[in-house]
Amino acid sequence: MATATFRVWRGDAKGGKFQDFVMEVAPGMVVLDAIHEIQSSQANDLAVRWNCKAGKCGSCSAEINGMPKLMCMTRLSQLPLEKPITVEPMRSFPLVKDLVTDVSWNFRVKEQIKPFRPRKPDAPDGTWRMDQKDVDRVQEFRKCIECFLCQDVCHVLRNHHLYDQFIGPRFFVYAAALEMHPLDVEDRLKDLRKTQGIGFCNITKCCTKVCPESIHITDNAIIPLKERVVDQFYDPLKKLFRVFQGDK
Ligand code: SF4
Ligand code: SF4
Ligand code: FES
Repeated sequence: MATATFRVWRGDAKGGKFQDFVMEVAPGMVVLDAIHEIQSSQANDLAVRWNCKAGKCGSCSAEINGMPKLMCMTRLSQLPLEKPITVEPMRSFPLVKDLVTDVSWNFRVKEQIKPFRPRKPDAPDGTWRMDQKDVDRVQEFRKCIECFLCQDVCHVLRNHHLYDQFIGPRFFVYAAALEMHPLDVEDRLKDLRKTQGIGFCNITKCCTKVCPESIHITDNAIIPLKERVVDQFYDPLKKLFRVFQGDK
């Protein structure tokens, strides 16, 4: 048994401050265990969101020692226990209470993205055929648990607050999964360029670094989408074609 200090943010939208909790910690504990222990023994009104305690529901996102992480997947053995461990809510979303933020903006953003639209069935039995390599390509994107840690860390949202012009890395991953789906025929490139702000991403890769599912957000989703946007909108021949069609 060792003793550790947890410096936990307490407050709501009107304001708040850090509160220190000292407690005994045991081998194998994660930060969420410590928060639950504090909740049961020292601060019954401490607000925290969690569901699975297995890194799969994406609910327990927080900033631990200043780094966006899942509380249930951050072992105390990975942290320097000789110093207070800070646990704060995600900074890019409005605070509800203590460690709980309102992430509903993300769900409204998701509704703006055009849904899956498959091409007509092309096999004699009325179904489709796909190459396995095309199926494999989008599998990575489907691992997303919607923890929104990538959204939290992205400077376009966190520092520049462009919530009405930029959908964020999570939704570039979502759009990429649809755009690269071998059956999908919908065109989302105009939206990505004009209203969803892909041009604001300067591929710093901060989102990729914090993704608990190790999705290659920048290399495999954002950069290929940017390439498609450039190809569609800045290729001189395609541009000329669009001018004749009256679609700039
Ligand atoms: S790579 Fe782009 S989306 Fe990801 S954090 Fe940086 S600016 Fe944001
Ligand atoms: S892409 Fe990764 S960091 Fe972003 S919401 Fe999905 S799982 Fe979380
Ligand atoms: S509690 Fe579900 S991801 Fe942490």
